Amino acid sequence: MAPKAQPASTPTKRDLLSILDVAEELPSLLRRAAELRALRNKGKLPHPLEGRALAMIFEKPSTRTRSSFELAMVELGGHAVYLSTKDMQLGRGETIADTARVLSRYYHGICYRAFRWQDETELAKWSSIPVINALDDREHPCQIVADLQTLWERWGGKFEGRQLAYIGDGNNVLRSLMYGAAIVGLDFVAAIPQGYRPDTETLAKARELAAKKGSKVEIVDTPKAAARGSDALYTDVWVSMGDEAEAAQRKEAFHGFQINDLLLGHAKDGAFALHDLPAHRGEEISDSVMDGEHQAIWDQAENRLHAQKAILELLLRTRPGPARRAR
Ligand code: CP
Ligand code: NVA
Repeated sequence: MAPKAQPASTPTKRDLLSILDVAEELPSLLRRAAELRALRNKGKLPHPLEGRALAMIFEKPSTRTRSSFELAMVELGGHAVYLSTKDMQLGRGETIADTARVLSRYYHGICYRAFRWQDETELAKWSSIPVINALDDREHPCQIVADLQTLWERWGGKFEGRQLAYIGDGNNVLRSLMYGAAIVGLDFVAAIPQGYRPDTETLAKARELAAKKGSKVEIVDTPKAAARGSDALYTDVWVSMGDEAEAAQRKEAFHGFQINDLLLGHAKDGAFALHDLPAHRGEEISDSVMDGEHQAIWDQAENRLHAQKAILELLLRTRPGPARRAR
């Protein structure tokens, strides 16, 4: 009988599926992302990924993640290929495992926007090259590297004594953000309606990380309670991609969980708003905040490019390329 195929085992391969996978390097990723931004502003584009190629598999729409990954690869001297699952054989029933084994023969890395965390991990299991999570139902780690870069830059390279509030859904963005904040030692307070809060395991993990830094992770009932004493307020959509069937009940549950001028007024002087985008203006955030002075949203969106570069450098520069490792 022919031997059963085995998952790829490449000892030096390194995936970024959760923000926890780069916990150790997170501070240096933020520094490097800020450095890459400064270099780009001076017209300098280092090419550490010359000859390297990234496959970009997307099951869901994207503006920022797709653009920033593709442009990051090009500016780092490499190449990126966008693959929508609508056009791939994956969408017609080819398995994730077989897709992973083939792409591992062509590329040096894969970024994957998936509906399901299980599919993300399945792709990583069968790939002999790094897999980077470009959002799934559990996490959005690359977004959070850009978010923390934005805060780090605004606060002069320090997180000490700062508090970040999150207002809204306990979703993929919240999970990665809560872990990321805990890793860098930010105090983190989230206002999330009952029924939409993170599971106890996630909360326990975030608190364990925060304890190492002497910071806190709290869930509170009202946006006002979260805003009080906070230096920045973060929100995300009430209805994530994949949650559309629950739109009506979610809009009801999240009513009032909005970042607006009144809420910013309860935060510390100089506090500003963050949003990973796309925004649903008038729901989780008001027009006046989006278009006003008390936000870092557009810097945050720009930083996706610089953060993506820092991530790609870390994972693709010294890692093995296409190889006959996956059987
Ligand atoms: N924030 C974010 O991931 O945006 P896109 O869905 O446009 O990629
Ligand atoms: N939570 C949102 C983030 C979009 C970037 C979603 O998953 O749709």
